[in-house]
Amino acid sequence: MEKKETLDSSLKDIVSICKRRGFVYPGSEIYGGLSNTFDYGPYGAELLHNLKRLWWKHFVHLREDVVGLDSSILLNPKVWEASGHVSNFNDPLIDCRNCKARIRADKFLEDQKGEGAATGLSLQEMNRVIQEGNFPCPTCGNRGTFTEARDFNLMFKTSHGASAEDAQDIYLRPETAQGIFINFKNVVSTTRRKIPFGIAQIGKSFRNEIMARQFVFRTREFEQMEMEYFCEPGTQKEWFAHWVEYCLRFLTEQVGLKKENLKIREHEKEELSFYSEATSDIEYKYGFGWGELWGIASRTNYDLSQHEKFSGEDLKYQDQAANKKYVPYVVEPALGLNRLFLATVTDAYAEETLADGEVRTVLRFSPKIAPVKVGVFPLMKKDGLPELSRSIFGELSALGNMEYDDGGAIGKRYRRQDEIGTPYCVTVDYESLSDKTVTVRERDSMSQERLPIAGLKSFFADKIL
Ligand code: GAP
Repeated sequence: MEKKETLDSSLKDIVSICKRRGFVYPGSEIYGGLSNTFDYGPYGAELLHNLKRLWWKHFVHLREDVVGLDSSILLNPKVWEASGHVSNFNDPLIDCRNCKARIRADKFLEDQKGEGAATGLSLQEMNRVIQEGNFPCPTCGNRGTFTEARDFNLMFKTSHGASAEDAQDIYLRPETAQGIFINFKNVVSTTRRKIPFGIAQIGKSFRNEIMARQFVFRTREFEQMEMEYFCEPGTQKEWFAHWVEYCLRFLTEQVGLKKENLKIREHEKEELSFYSEATSDIEYKYGFGWGELWGIASRTNYDLSQHEKFSGEDLKYQDQAANKKYVPYVVEPALGLNRLFLATVTDAYAEETLADGEVRTVLRFSPKIAPVKVGVFPLMKKDGLPELSRSIFGELSALGNMEYDDGGAIGKRYRRQDEIGTPYCVTVDYESLSDKTVTVRERDSMSQERLPIAGLKSFFADKIL
């Protein structure tokens, strides 16, 4: 079979297949939408769950030194004062006086002058460069219409309490990490964990991004998979190197992303977050170019020390064996689930021209994360084939999400499963009734083999689990 491949999938292709095949829908669509919000359809929801399960397995279950947590989205507002988010979690904002467009000043400067053009610049310095450049507004094209750059806090404010008198201003969490720090003492005292150890959590975070864009890459509501790894001061460099390597291997060996689409970028001193002494980003080559996928930061003892100061609680760790007491240092691998979703779909997307000239679109997900594991097809909707197919479907369903499809020509059913990334299809035909075998078709090679029904479950279990 001759196959010609288009290697680079543009963001347009990805958005299109996600909508067409029920992975991602625009949010609130029947009401005209709500900008930058997305709903995940049946296959998207399965893919998200599979990615979360895989991460949890490798960052919690397979690690004897990591435990899980599920903290609140709503936290006492003092948490965000202590963490520095109230005063420091800002992006520089400029407005166009003519068309009222709101623009993130640092990203605007990078668009105008190249990557890194805004790194380390103060608000005043950005103002100067923008004025000197006399750049046109990207929305209306007018020049000289920008306001001065000012800090814009990214946290979403909301009100906590039923009556106006009791209501307290609080924030939706902008990261899951702080829920972990404020439970450090609880976890140590209830689970008898010894340092070094980590606490992992998956959950939604919210940021009022000035320029939310690039599909699900930068949204105001998103999900994070974060782990805070607590270690003895002086050992953080070793752990930092360990986690960078571990995360990269997770992406290539477990999720199955191609090595050439991943790279590590170390942060320059001037671009480090206010809490970090070192940060490396694992970047992915998305349809629009390289962008951050996973941030791994050495957060020092900044957060625990701040929470000690603001809460008055002793958050030091008592090392019984060494008879020492200290505030642990922290290494944090912080991954965005929606960005991992986008990277996974982008990486899996391929268009192939087959020998007969037909173009086949296929999502080559690893079987471990594919939204549908096996498509089960009766050749005809009669003569006992549906009954046998349903019993196979029932047995295989114990392994994961299967799909039963009895509509249309078999070739069309295969193409549909190719487009949602199903790695295997099982066709039940008349021979199956007598010899108890079925045709198993593999997505990537499109090869077919005849296998006994009795061995199907263990055949697929090896590949899917
Ligand atoms: N606790 C550290 C922290 O939150 P971050 O680099 O700001 O660090 C971690 O975020 C990850 O969360 C990023 O690498 C990215 O994958 C994801 N992320 C951050 N902001 C996002 C947004 N607006 N939309 C989608 N994902 C986002």
